[in-house]
Amino acid sequence: MVYGEISIKDKIELIDNILTPEDFVKLRVTTGFADIPAPHARKVLQNGLLNVSAVKEGKLIGMGRLVGDGAMYWYLQEIIVLPEYQGLGIGTMIVNHLVDYAAKNSSTGIFTTIGGVSAKGKEGFYEKLGFEVIPNGIQKMIEI
Ligand SMILES: CC(C)(COP(=O)(O)OP(=O)(O)OC[C@H]1O[C@@H](n2cnc3c(N)ncnc32)[C@H](O)[C@@H]1OP(=O)(O)O)[C@@H](O)C(=O)NCCC(=O)NCCS
Repeated sequence: MVYGEISIKDKIELIDNILTPEDFVKLRVTTGFADIPAPHARKVLQNGLLNVSAVKEGKLIGMGRLVGDGAMYWYLQEIIVLPEYQGLGIGTMIVNHLVDYAAKNSSTGIFTTIGGVSAKGKEGFYEKLGFEVIPNGIQKMIEI
């Protein structure tokens, strides 16, 4: 038996609301999300409820965001782990951190709803975390 073994998860810090617009854009692009201008990214971060950065020995390796009304409805956005750090449990840490925040800050009674839109092919990740993939979600893309 190995004692004192340190897993990668032990070296990850989750830090709230330190994400810069530039790093946000970089993480998005690295994992296939569209590039967005930095001023837009700044507004996105400012208007979200919480963003969390996963940091390993000073290096930003992942992120997640929670948006919503801060009391009753919560939505996960941009759960991202750099490709070379995927499959190590870091995405799970990020989602659990955001879910804990929602649980602590919900003011509606016993239950609250945390939603999101899974990227295609990532449904299994969310299912492992207790999310249900629902067929009756709605969305509409509008011209702006
Ligand atoms: C999706 C993502 C955040 C998962 O992060 P991760 O750190 O690799 O996930 P974890 O290591 O915590 O995985 C937790 C579990 O989910 C499983 N899992 C991960 N990705 C999966 C997928 N695409 N399909 C099915 N299961 C998946 C893992 O195998 C693991 O299972 P286990 O507990 O039985 O070992 C990461 O792959 C990523 O950043 N992808 C690119 C960006 C993206 O598409 N984000 C989702 C936006 S909706």
